[in-house]
Amino acid sequence: MSEETVRSKPVLGIDIGGSGIKGAPVDLATGEFTTKRLRITTPQKSTPKNVAAVVAEIVEAFADVIGDGPLGVTIPAVVTHGKTRSAANIDKSWIDAEAEKIFEDRLDRDILLVNDADAAGIAEVHYGAAKGHPGLVLMATLGTGIGTAIVYRGVLIPNSELGHIEIDGQDAEKRAAASVKEREGLSYKEYIPRLQKYLERLEALLWPDLIVIGGGISKNSEKFIPKLKLNAEVVPAKLLNTAGIVGAAWLAADRQVHPDALR
Ligand code: BGC
Repeated sequence: MSEETVRSKPVLGIDIGGSGIKGAPVDLATGEFTTKRLRITTPQKSTPKNVAAVVAEIVEAFADVIGDGPLGVTIPAVVTHGKTRSAANIDKSWIDAEAEKIFEDRLDRDILLVNDADAAGIAEVHYGAAKGHPGLVLMATLGTGIGTAIVYRGVLIPNSELGHIEIDGQDAEKRAAASVKEREGLSYKEYIPRLQKYLERLEALLWPDLIVIGGGISKNSEKFIPKLKLNAEVVPAKLLNTAGIVGAAWLAADRQVHPDALR
């Protein structure tokens, strides 16, 4: 299928989070939603099967807009060859689940399943803070956990999982995620050194040209980004809470053109 044909129709993106599952059709020319997004609370027992049922509800709600087009879905886990491989902050039943297949069987349509931070990184590269960037972009989403995406000249290197590097003998996300700031009641003054240390380490490993900070906390970027001292330019994400949906939709369309993408 030609790239233009695929991208001329709205493509549905769905973002699976710990508290809500959100979906909207995306206009891939602009990276904007074509209608208001739908949010359904994540089931208490958030197994792949229960989540697939909610995803089906969202697909149903937008059936008229998306026709038989592809669907992109994000998940806060490592995804290789359609299988979810980890579950840092989600139900443990996702570990080694044939998630893409479970969704495809439930929905009877093509599904692209992707790590949530990878989707956000791709969205920022195509429509947001890293749009058209010619070099190495590192995105870090600071939320319940820390997600990362590495994109070089527009190409995603999936499942970087740099939220789990070890710092001072601890999983980095347990010290520097936005949820930790909240849980421990840290002021920005107390939190910034943790973030500085974390990003410094990432920088020493990867030497990105641009670091994009995402997650809810990026709304208050003026309170911490100017205080970070790094070699790379550091900028807040632009798409905020639409990034996962937009990136998933972009990648789903991309797989129509490049059938082996993220297989
Ligand atoms: C998970 C990642 C995910 C990130 C953000 C981490 O705990 O391991 O897969 O991208 O949280 O949700």
